[in-house]
Amino acid sequence: MKIRLLLITAAFALAFGPLARAADEPETELGAKMEKMGGAFRALGRQISDSSKNADSLAKLATIRQNAEASIKFEPAKKSEIPSAEQKKFVADYKAEMKKFLELCGKLEAALKANDNAEAAKLCASMKDSQKAGHKKYKKDDKKK
Ligand code: HEM
Repeated sequence: MKIRLLLITAAFALAFGPLARAADEPETELGAKMEKMGGAFRALGRQISDSSKNADSLAKLATIRQNAEASIKFEPAKKSEIPSAEQKKFVADYKAEMKKFLELCGKLEAALKANDNAEAAKLCASMKDSQKAGHKKYKKDDKKK
């Protein structure tokens, strides 16, 4: 009897486990890069004004930068919702936007290296704005955050 219960539990876990995971895991490769940026960016935001943490902030920024660079190679899933005649421009605009975001990363790196935390905080806010604008335009509606 116990064995049957165990088998039924295992069958349920196998059948529904993947569904439970899918809800909070990124669905695309681009989404996975973004998730990594998300963790580092949240931590960076908390300590951006604290100059004693600048070395660690530079490390967090390096993670953001690497994943943003990798993100340029992917295309947003939203492309499939765009009329085919406009898709090329949509992807090119997305890549240009991501390059602008990378420029902000470069400026932030310089500010942190110069221990200019007031400037660093401003740049971090601009990156947040860039994130919001990027998501509004290039992220599918059901995934807006
Ligand atoms: C600090 C900057 C940013 C952070 C922390 C961030 C974070 C995130 C997170 C957490 C997701 C959800 C991933 C998932 O669970 O699927 C996401 C998705 C996405 N983000 Fe960002 N993002 C940033 C900047 C940007 C920028 C600048 C753009 C556009 C130029 C952008 C475009 C997208 C797109 C298109 C998706 C949907 C993924 C897909 O279509 O496959 N993000 N982002």
